Amino acid sequence: MDSFELNKIFGALCFTLLVYLGVQNLGDILFHTEPADPQAYVVEGVVEEGAVAVAAVVEEVVPIAELLQTASIEKGMKTAKKCISCHSFEAGGANKIGPALWGIVDREVGAGAGFKYSEALAGLGGQWDYEALNGFLENPKKYAVGTNMAFAGLRKANDRANIIAYLDSLK
Ligand code: HEC
Repeated sequence: MDSFELNKIFGALCFTLLVYLGVQNLGDILFHTEPADPQAYVVEGVVEEGAVAVAAVVEEVVPIAELLQTASIEKGMKTAKKCISCHSFEAGGANKIGPALWGIVDREVGAGAGFKYSEALAGLGGQWDYEALNGFLENPKKYAVGTNMAFAGLRKANDRANIIAYLDSLK
């Protein structure tokens, strides 16, 4: 094989490579999609960006009543471990750092016997229905500004639904 022939083969290889790269880039050009603008999903109260924010938005629009239909008392009982340093859950349970929570669903807000509530909670009014519990447990300090409940909140709607189902069983 003389060098002329080798050159031809080399040339052919280069050409093939160029075509290959060209096709790849063409694909990129044809099918290139801009990453979604994170700003498009930012809604009030949601600080995450992109996909996380989408998940949060999707989560937020499901009403708690709907989530409760598939909520799990068992799982709620497990999530309640986050509360037991401050709350008792059993019938006749004592107040701890926070008021006893037996029978809390539909009880008047701030009405636990023998518990000294903050002005924030004492002045809130209403009852602990599903909606109220959902709002409070998501972000206690935002829902009842000035509350003494030093708890960051349950960000996942499913966690809240499960724990509300559990609380609802305590009667
Ligand atoms: C660090 C302690 C602490 C933790 C943890 C905590 N709480 Fe509380 N909770 C409190 C205190 C204190 C209050 C009373 C708040 C006030 O007076 O402002 C309270 C109040 C409440 C109330 C209102 C009760 C009433 O009688 O009006 C509910 C409901 C409640 N907590 C549920 C929960 C649940 C459910 C969890 C767990 C997911 C939890 N808390 C975790 C301390 C805590």
